[in-house]
Amino acid sequence: MAQNLFDLTGKVALVTGASSGLGFGFAEGLARAGSDLVIWGRRADANERAAERLRAFGGKVHTQSVDVSDEAAIVAGVADALAAMGKIDAVVANAGIASQKPFIEMDAATYHGLIDVNQHGVVFTLREVARHMVERGEGGSLILCGSGSIFQGVPTMTHYGAAKGALNSLAKGIAAELGPHGIRCNVIAPGFIITEMTMADPEVGRMIADAVAQKAPIPRAGQPDDLWGAVVYLASDLSRYHTGDTLIVDGGKIAKN
Ligand SMILES: NC(=O)c1ccc[n+]([C@@H]2O[C@H](COP(=O)([O-])OP(=O)(O)OC[C@H]3O[C@@H](n4cnc5c(N)ncnc54)[C@H](OP(=O)(O)O)[C@@H]3O)[C@@H](O)[C@H]2O)c1
Repeated sequence: MAQNLFDLTGKVALVTGASSGLGFGFAEGLARAGSDLVIWGRRADANERAAERLRAFGGKVHTQSVDVSDEAAIVAGVADALAAMGKIDAVVANAGIASQKPFIEMDAATYHGLIDVNQHGVVFTLREVARHMVERGEGGSLILCGSGSIFQGVPTMTHYGAAKGALNSLAKGIAAELGPHGIRCNVIAPGFIITEMTMADPEVGRMIADAVAQKAPIPRAGQPDDLWGAVVYLASDLSRYHTGDTLIVDGGKIAKN
């Protein structure tokens, strides 16, 4: 009899920034594979709307309003998640922001504002979940949302590249340190995906999407559901021997000269 090797029934995954875009896509992929979910974002109403859609797949979905730039809020958020769900098997540290600023005009507020969410928010989310996983003693999967853009320079997005680039090294360090506890840590590096962030300026968004379609071997911009395979694989036991890696999911754009 055939088996569903990617079945996540009975697992609990925490997804940060899950009220829209890629985070919602990650959460939907996990929910479709049977996982229960905890979803975070700052806006309680947007979290609840997302949760309503995710509950349609049959699992439990717990929401919590958490700003990942605030370490104390993360600590309280993980405690709340554990009180509600009892455990966390996988986390997708996805919450992130983007902004543009020429490098020679970079100011501390812009730089730290972005690093606080895209880098420190990831670090403290993973640390807090990893503490629970070590204490529980049953391992787990830590998944970071990086970016395919770090493999090339992007003018006016040096702070974004610095934050996302650091995540690859962070994942390798965590993988090396926590592997003996059965905890794996990997990065998903998406290419250009159509979301609220990338379509904030629809004209620019469409221009980049067209450029990606011209260059990528799979000739189109990505959609959040293009990441389902990577996230379900990394959250499942099928990836049990895979750690410290970065999975680039970009339609082959970086692979092509
Ligand atoms: N779209 C792409 O092409 C692309 C490519 C590579 C990587 N990424 C990465 O993918 C992630 C998601 O991007 P997206 O395109 O899906 O953006 P998005 O549509 O703007 O979604 C961002 C999500 O993060 C949440 N968020 C933002 N700041 C937060 C904070 N301080 N604390 C908690 N949650 C926060 C937002 O909810 P609230 O506003 O309610 O907090 C929202 O749910 C980011 O890390 C981004 O860098 C995106």
